[in-house]
Amino acid sequence: MRLMGRKLLYGVIIGLIIGFAAGYFIRGMMVEAGIKELYEQISEFRRRMVVVRMAIPPLRNIAEKCGIYIGAAVERSLLDIPDYAYILKQEFNILTTENALKFGPVHPQPNVYSFGDADYIINFAESNGMRVRGHTLVWHQQLPGWVAQGKYTREEWINILREHIMTVVGRFRGRIYAWDVVNEAIADDGTLRDTVWLRNIGPEYIEMAFRWAHEADPQALLFYNDYGAEGLNAKSDAIYNLVKGLLEKGVPIHGVGLQMHISLENPPNPQEVAANIKRLNELGLEVHITEMDVRIRMPAKWEDLIKQAEIYRDILRVCLTADNCKAFVMWGFTDKYSWIPGYFSGYGAALIFDEFYAPKPAYYYIAATLIEHLTKK
Ligand code: G3I
Repeated sequence: MRLMGRKLLYGVIIGLIIGFAAGYFIRGMMVEAGIKELYEQISEFRRRMVVVRMAIPPLRNIAEKCGIYIGAAVERSLLDIPDYAYILKQEFNILTTENALKFGPVHPQPNVYSFGDADYIINFAESNGMRVRGHTLVWHQQLPGWVAQGKYTREEWINILREHIMTVVGRFRGRIYAWDVVNEAIADDGTLRDTVWLRNIGPEYIEMAFRWAHEADPQALLFYNDYGAEGLNAKSDAIYNLVKGLLEKGVPIHGVGLQMHISLENPPNPQEVAANIKRLNELGLEVHITEMDVRIRMPAKWEDLIKQAEIYRDILRVCLTADNCKAFVMWGFTDKYSWIPGYFSGYGAALIFDEFYAPKPAYYYIAATLIEHLTKK
């Protein structure tokens, strides 16, 4: 009796183990079948996307017909990556030198210039029929130590800046379509930003920079460039007054760059951006959207990517409908290489291609907006 009871117990235990094992096996097979099905669906979806993408002309072709340049900021080191270089030349017709022409990288020592990276980017642009935006001649960041910590007389500061601008602009004379001559010289409250240039030269450094840049390359369009001044606020009012004052003095300035580094939560109001561009048009100035990206709190959800696409669309529409907005440039194009994650903790996915170089909804919204503009024309 006891023996039978024990056998029964063993039988039950073995039965349970076999039952569990079979359950796991069957579940595993079902999961695998589910994954396979899902995988096949994704592959099919990707094939269809490739067909859709092939049906859309490259952005640069449509933008050209709309009468604007479309572009991205680039780093020299990334141009050796085949996917990166391929998308750039396929999609864009204007490039901005992201870091290569800033004071620190290009002029690291008093008598030493390092033009290798800029030469490479500009040659790449020229051999692919692209314009170049030169960024930037006068800024308070990315300065070499000999400038940032330098102690000089006012006269010496003026000579340093003059020699820098004449050399850098002169070297690329006739090859740079537009220069960001002065970058971020106004603080958020509309006062002049406290920088080495303001402290050591005085407010005249701004007009001096424009005059020297024009002397070194009379063909280049010269821009004042800033962030947080896209709509109507104290900063954009101050920029408006600054450039108006420069024009009244006969200073050679041709445009204002609206950087457009924005977040999904807090984009500028498109009507205000339109009004700001319009008042600059009334002064006879061009506008370029110079550094657009739309950062998202990570992980980015599908709805976030759609909202991001709508923001890109709205700003591009404003640019397309303004007679004086001639370029729409983003601060990079792939999320694989973007300054955002390194500067805004917890944020990313700010550009129009993902980190695998696949176009995001924003890419398609931009293409559709350009096509929509053409069909309305
Ligand atoms: O090149 C050096 C490299 O030699 C060194 O090993 C490495 C170590 O950190 O640093 C490298 O330099 C970095 C450089 O980017 C190139 O990658 C700097 O540290 C880094 O500070 C620099 O950041 C740049 C930033 O400006 C500087 O403030 C970003 O790439 C660049 O996207 C960003 O661009 C600015 C615009 O010029 C003006 N508007 C705002 C925009 C975003 O901040």
